[in-house]
Amino acid sequence: MTIKEPHHPLLHPFAIPAKAESDFINIVSGAGTTLHDDQGRRYLDGMASLWYCQVGHGRTEIVDAVANQLKQTGSYSIFDPFTSTIARRAAEMIAERSPHADGRVMFGCSGSEAVDTALKFSRLIQQRRGLPDKQIIIRRTDAYHGTTFGGTASQGLAPNREGWGDLDPNFIEIPQSDIEAMATVFGAHGDRIAAVISEPVQGAGGVWPPVEGYLENMRRLCDQHGALLIFDEVICGFGRTGSWFGAQTYGVTPDLMTFAKGATSGYQPLSGVIISRAVADELEEDDSFLLRHGYTYSGHAGSCAAAVANIEIIEREGLVERANHIGREVTKGFEALKGDGLIEGYRGVGAVWAADLGEPAAEWSRKMTARGLISRGFDDALILCPPLVISDDEIAEFVEGIADLRRQMAPR
Ligand SMILES: Cc1ncc(COP(=O)(O)O)c(C=O)c1O
Repeated sequence: MTIKEPHHPLLHPFAIPAKAESDFINIVSGAGTTLHDDQGRRYLDGMASLWYCQVGHGRTEIVDAVANQLKQTGSYSIFDPFTSTIARRAAEMIAERSPHADGRVMFGCSGSEAVDTALKFSRLIQQRRGLPDKQIIIRRTDAYHGTTFGGTASQGLAPNREGWGDLDPNFIEIPQSDIEAMATVFGAHGDRIAAVISEPVQGAGGVWPPVEGYLENMRRLCDQHGALLIFDEVICGFGRTGSWFGAQTYGVTPDLMTFAKGATSGYQPLSGVIISRAVADELEEDDSFLLRHGYTYSGHAGSCAAAVANIEIIEREGLVERANHIGREVTKGFEALKGDGLIEGYRGVGAVWAADLGEPAAEWSRKMTARGLISRGFDDALILCPPLVISDDEIAEFVEGIADLRRQMAPR
């Protein structure tokens, strides 16, 4: 008789609850792109943890900045009437690097919280314009926007929306890259559309850069129909696409933009929404209007200190530009794999890429991890989204790892 291991109290996110704790990999240390688990095994991190660790692991500079900040006051709320120097500094640094240098920043902790804030703000703006029927949010197939109720309803990944009972009905899905379908939905429902939410490059849904003209058309349709454009920059932000934000990479400016992950490289949880000056004007025009929104940890001092230190490192080490170098190296490697018939194709930008294997990639990802190469499988895509400090040799290790596995798994 096999004795089943009793379940550990720790319930893992996006995991099978019945899976035994001993079957998980316990990462205990890291430096740069290298990680070690509690069994002494070495890994290369091709996913920047969960798409977030821009500056690499083991950055004591950020840890020290957080510790020094917390030693001063712990953290204190910035709900009215309080404010904080470090939260102000982080908001300034983030806004200045975005297309909305004169905009404003509302902080949260998770990407999902930022998405909820952006969804609520877009509806709020329409309500305050005297347009109470403008409540529909347009989402895209393959979109990932987190797992709060708002984030779940915004997702274009159907399995993630199922099993929770009714979600907000005011969401309409448009096919991922179909400009005409988007125009048709606006034609039919334009007077009820509050906002469109879109990642500049869809990430978790398989790494899909926008097709030519897609984001520009989205912007134009929003303007024509008085809808707000929300870019969810939770993955794209902070250098990932080769500019500070995806909005800059593609030259399309949204009204609201969410960020998280790379804002602190994950050393502390921090997210937020950057709003344009025009949206801010609408919130500011009535000086008796109270914005009834915010999270206990909005502007948490430790998180804001991590963001400031992280942004300083990204700037000092030229990591935004380095994302473009990573893109060139990955392209070189993937092009060779394609030329040898080892992958079907590839797609991506900056430092976020997917190799199209032409077959389900989940097993590949497990096998790559077993070889110490952490990547992510989604549908037929094997995804690479490494720390922006990954070396050319480390990129080559991933490319060779894919080639090796292909030869072993499915000789062609
Ligand atoms: C584009 C995007 N939005 C939102 C989220 C949700 O972020 P969080 O898991 O921090 O709530 C994610 C997470 O991967 C994401 O990729």
